Amino acid sequence: MKRIGVLTSGGDSPGMNACIRAVVRTGLGLGLEIMGIKHGYNGLIAGEMEPMGARSVGGIIQRAGTILQTARCEEFKTTQGGRRALRKLNEYGIEGLVVIGGGGSLKGALELHKMGFPVVGVPASIDNDICGTDMSIGTDTALNTALDAIDKIKETGSSHGRAFLVEVMGRNYGYLALMAAIAGGAEVVLIPEKKIAMEEVAKILKQAYIKGKAHALVVIAEGAKCKTLEVAAYLQKEEVGFEVRTTILGHVQRGGSPSAFDRLLATRLGASAVQKLAQGVSGVIVGLIGNKIETTSLERVTERRKELDITFYDMADVLAK
Ligand code: F6P
Repeated sequence: MKRIGVLTSGGDSPGMNACIRAVVRTGLGLGLEIMGIKHGYNGLIAGEMEPMGARSVGGIIQRAGTILQTARCEEFKTTQGGRRALRKLNEYGIEGLVVIGGGGSLKGALELHKMGFPVVGVPASIDNDICGTDMSIGTDTALNTALDAIDKIKETGSSHGRAFLVEVMGRNYGYLALMAAIAGGAEVVLIPEKKIAMEEVAKILKQAYIKGKAHALVVIAEGAKCKTLEVAAYLQKEEVGFEVRTTILGHVQRGGSPSAFDRLLATRLGASAVQKLAQGVSGVIVGLIGNKIETTSLERVTERRKELDITFYDMADVLAK
């Protein structure tokens, strides 16, 4: 193998740049040429790529986003799109590919592998919903960003008898919200995996004040069954009686300098992905399992979503007492 490509795809996550850097410098160290493919699979199909040297990834380890830029590509999901991508890879003499991204991006990687093209995936998503890794690149930073906001909201919240709602990202997965609720000391957490009636939420918040708590904080996953604005409207009803303040954190969670954990994870995974490709391994992701970097087949990773450890939900409930 002489030349490999690297692309980032789907939603960006803090640490993607650290991963690109590790891919490029590890690859160069192994005597490979590295092509940086712009705008994810869109750029692959369009042939938007250029060689990357050690200096092209200088000064990026501390930056969120992705210098290669990213996209969610509809065309790549079609057979014709896949074939066009394969043609471009051959045209540019690329013999292996590192795909850095979330679940959808890894499905794309599996398609290329099925077409006989060597590919290794690296899980990167703030949602932490990818099988085959305990943590995805960007999750830790996003969690810290959410916590920073929650801590601040709690400070103002403690000065009023209000109910504060904070919505965090995570698509249809409750990991980010659940961890933010535990680490931020929320009174209630709403996640897609658990159903809780709004009456119950109101009851818990009222009890919080009766118990002498200074704040009543609800963390809501964006994918929760009860939507944030509905919860806010309910709690503000005259008969329920809360004064409510709502914060939707949104994309702020995707920015910010990657944490030490994410930089190190991204670096280890990026380096390992290239080493695996160079050893002739394909059709896998590299992930963190325990404290080791392990491979799991793309087939397995993409066939189901990671299961959320629901014992953390019970823990959040006990600790909110
Ligand atoms: O998958 C990462 C994520 O940030 C989710 O948490 C969120 O639902 C989604 O992407 C937002 O996507 P977009 O940036 O395309 O609006």
